[in-house]
Amino acid sequence: MNVLVLGSGGREHAISWKLAQSSQLNKLFIAPGNPGTGLVGENVDLDLKDFSGVAKFALDNSVNIIVVGPEDPLVLGIHDYFSDRDDLSGITVIGPKKEGAQIEGSKDFSKAFMMKYNIPTAKYKSVNKENLENGYAHLEKMKAPYVLKADGLAAGKGVLILDSLEEAKRELTTMITEAKFGAASRTVVIEEFLSGIEVSVFVITDGKSYKILPEAKDYKRIGEGDTGLNTGGMGAISPVPFANRDFMDKVDNQVIIPTIKGLRAEGIEYSGFIFFGLINVKGDPYVIEYNCRLGDPETEVVLPRLKSDLLDLFDGIASGTLSERDVQIDPRTATTVMMVSGGYPESYEKGKTIKGLSGVEDSIVFHAGTSNKDGLIQTSGGRVLAVTSYGKDIETALKKSYNSAGKIQFDGSYYRSDLGFDLVKKGQKT
Ligand code: AMP
Ligand code: GLY
Repeated sequence: MNVLVLGSGGREHAISWKLAQSSQLNKLFIAPGNPGTGLVGENVDLDLKDFSGVAKFALDNSVNIIVVGPEDPLVLGIHDYFSDRDDLSGITVIGPKKEGAQIEGSKDFSKAFMMKYNIPTAKYKSVNKENLENGYAHLEKMKAPYVLKADGLAAGKGVLILDSLEEAKRELTTMITEAKFGAASRTVVIEEFLSGIEVSVFVITDGKSYKILPEAKDYKRIGEGDTGLNTGGMGAISPVPFANRDFMDKVDNQVIIPTIKGLRAEGIEYSGFIFFGLINVKGDPYVIEYNCRLGDPETEVVLPRLKSDLLDLFDGIASGTLSERDVQIDPRTATTVMMVSGGYPESYEKGKTIKGLSGVEDSIVFHAGTSNKDGLIQTSGGRVLAVTSYGKDIETALKKSYNSAGKIQFDGSYYRSDLGFDLVKKGQKT
């Protein structure tokens, strides 16, 4: 099979790395890719929003499967574009159509969906220009902290958690009337605050059956001990000790099954990945958010733990026979440490030469924000490299990731050195 992966981050490098191991793979293309994906396939220069350009490339190169890494092309309808054109109908797009992508593209949609199908989630109210006064009244009835979420895609920045009622009212006003997050915050979801530890659970589905992939915990804050600004993710660990059999059974029965059934009941044909962002509230899973794609940096630990052939699972989606495919999971722990540019997630410099990559032996280095300048690998983004390692437990895997990260240098490089602090108690086996 010929496969085209869309995207250019650590997630897409991990997807491409995994696909490159498949005996069923003929040619692997990545658009636009990065120097890491260039090691396992051929990078091609395509604009992910130019669907006709992607289609032309796919036809010219006999692509069978297109794997969509990020959410934007899905929310914009890349899958619909391929289904609607007769000459493209033989190409399978991994990722839902526009309607299904609303689980991520609209918080208002996903909250109403969860309420309708009794899927545990925080209580909420949707507010827009027309019912802004009701929004203020709703806030007055709530207790702090106040959670405000832009309805639409806001590059992970559309969630505000505020301690004072005054601030919450003020932010609600600017989100809606001054378009703080552009069109994305024309509607705002006010949510009850849930307290607990988070875990990301992933499934792959052909719309009828589904397979659960390894769960992971990501570390979103820039600073040690989960302090400071939110980032795209500073590292991830899989498996997650508190996501034990009992908890995962609840996730399956109370969250995954009702979601898959609910999508079918709505007449939404959903194929691809579903990412359940969950919070463990006293042993019970609640959905914080759905995403219509894999997570980053979670993918950099989830796919290394998938022993089965990922392309075979994609073929199961293409033929609607996912239920017959096998998912085997590596029992080892995988950890990834994200090396970032100094200053990230605020402003940072690019173009710093990265040294020491060839000295890494015990880890897999996934490229996230790198570029190739005349044969030199340089930084080109905030999140630069994800350093993934295996181990018999969290400590062993992390030790390897930190050891490898220590061998890689670029000016201003930073990584969190406390990953797993909330999962591993000193002296406790994981
Ligand atoms: P989201 O973009 O919906 O994943 O939200 C970003 C982050 O905000 C989440 O990862 C949580 O840490 C936090 N968050 C979102 N919703 C809530 C909630 N209802 N209660 C507590 N924390 C939340
Ligand atoms: N790591 C969270 C995300 O990919 O949205």
